[in-house]
Amino acid sequence: MRIDILTIFPEILSGPFDHSIIKRAQKAGIVEIHLHNIRDYSTNKHKKVDDYPYSAGAGMVMSIQPIDDLISKLKSERNYQAIIFTTPDGLTFNQNHANHLSTFENIIILCGHYKGIDQRIRDHIVTHEFSIGDYVLTGGELAAAVITDSIVRLIPGAMSDETSALSDSFQDGLLSAPVYTRPADYKGWKVPEILLSGNERKIEEWKLEQAIDKTKRLRPDLLNPSKK
Ligand code: ADE
Repeated sequence: MRIDILTIFPEILSGPFDHSIIKRAQKAGIVEIHLHNIRDYSTNKHKKVDDYPYSAGAGMVMSIQPIDDLISKLKSERNYQAIIFTTPDGLTFNQNHANHLSTFENIIILCGHYKGIDQRIRDHIVTHEFSIGDYVLTGGELAAAVITDSIVRLIPGAMSDETSALSDSFQDGLLSAPVYTRPADYKGWKVPEILLSGNERKIEEWKLEQAIDKTKRLRPDLLNPSKK
């Protein structure tokens, strides 16, 4: 898989992909992550990437030209199945979106900034708009990092124990059961007895029960999606 990330602050994104599973996946050739500086594509002599909005109101708006030129260049090189824009007024990103996007060959993620981008980019170029939650970040870079991370770890071969992606919270619509490791007793804080029993069937039942209880308590909306 190839992910092209378009930003005016590529430095923000050089760190997040240089560790752990995401770094290993790149080294193993499972994913290529390319950062592009939108500013490099501005035809303006001062390399401007934004301009004043037509309507009154504070805030600059990202211009079409550099973004369109950069995306057109990428599209001339390969086919993209998704051109994602990160924005607080997008669809709230979830595990289903991550699962779906992880099956794609090539995707572009365009990081939003300032007050927004010229609406014509969203109308004519972008195919998916995602928010990572109901709060406003200074820019879309961290959202792009979150989306990329959630996708890459799902690509076959990215994780050493592939079954572990299947037991993630949300994959089965439930939060994960708690996990423990040794020692079985730490300062009197004990690991639940059932986990020491060696009875795998009973342990699986317990884990499911725990997952359902935890989901009911913390995220009842996951159990009744229509009431959300
Ligand atoms: N840009 C600013 N805030 C954002 C958010 N919550 N999600 C995605 N992109 C954003």
